[in-house]
This record gives sequence, structure tokens and C-alpha cells, in this order.
Amino acid sequence: MHVLRLALPTVAVAVVVACGPAREPDAALALTGDVARGQAQYQMVCARCHGANGFGMLQTPALAYTVSSHDDRTVVSAMIRGRGGMGAQDVTDQQAADILAWLRATWPTPEAAKTPPVATPPP
Ligand code: HEC
Repeated sequence: MHVLRLALPTVAVAVVVACGPAREPDAALALTGDVARGQAQYQMVCARCHGANGFGMLQTPALAYTVSSHDDRTVVSAMIRGRGGMGAQDVTDQQAADILAWLRATWPTPEAAKTPPVATPPP
């Protein structure tokens, strides 16, 4: 029993240290995103799951159609905290703001998905 009493808090502390505190979207939301940088970031970080043209694949949502139905906070939160089956992505607050700006410019409505963006080749 004594061992358990010591072990549980230790494990809890270890988990918090390993994962860090969950990031809040506010910092990224306060930044001005750059559409061109966001496009490059999207292709590097998001396209392998959501597709270069935003059509998704297998279980991954087609952002081209769905992203306009989510508010900015939801989209940024998905990137920096993860969402359901999607883990948190390795993006800075500025990169998250840039990607958000590009998503908004590219797919403002579900209809915009009918004219897919030109994919930039990976650098
Ligand atoms: C490893 C694969 C993967 C990567 C990389 C990834 N996602 Fe996702 N994403 C998913 C999956 C799977 C879901 C569905 C999660 C769920 O609802 O369970 C999702 C859901 C989302 C949603 C919610 C969409 C909806 O219609 O509900 C948004 C917004 C999103 N991702 C944005 C991004 C952005 C922006 C990036 C790049 C920074 C990114 N994702 C990178 C796999 C990924």
C-alpha cells in the first residue's frame, strides 16, 4: 500500500512532465497568419493525412469540405492539441496561424473544394 501511495503521484508527475501542459489556442489566434507560408506548412505537416488537395484519405476528414464549418479556435486547437484520432501536430503558434490563414483563404466554403489548390512540391 505504501508503495502504491508513492508510485501513483510519481507516475502522475512523470506524465505531466513528459507531455507538458496542454497548449491553449489563444496565442496562435492572436497572431496574423501568412497565407503563402501557411500553404507550405500545410503541405509539409498536414497533407500526408488530409491530402495535398484537402480531400482527406480513408478515415481522415476532407478539410476542403469540412474546415469552413469549424471556427478558428477549433481548427487551431486540432493542430496544437490534437482532436479525436488526430494527435497534436509539431507546429509553432505562428505556423498554426499561417496554416489557418491558408485554410481560410483556400476553402472558405465547401464549394471552394471543387477548385483544388495547386499543390506546392515539398521543399
Ligand atoms: C497523422 C495524420 C494527421 C495529420 C498529420 C493531421 N491530421 Fe488533422 N485529422 C486527422 C484525423 C484522423 C482527423 C479526424 C479526428 C477525429 O475526429 O477523430 C483529423 C481531424 C482534423 C480536423 C477536424 C476536421 C473535421 O472535419 O472534423 C481539422 C480541422 C484538422 N484535422 C486539421 C489538421 C491540420 C491543419 C493539420 C496540419 C497542421 C492536420 N490536421 C494534420 C489526421 C491528421
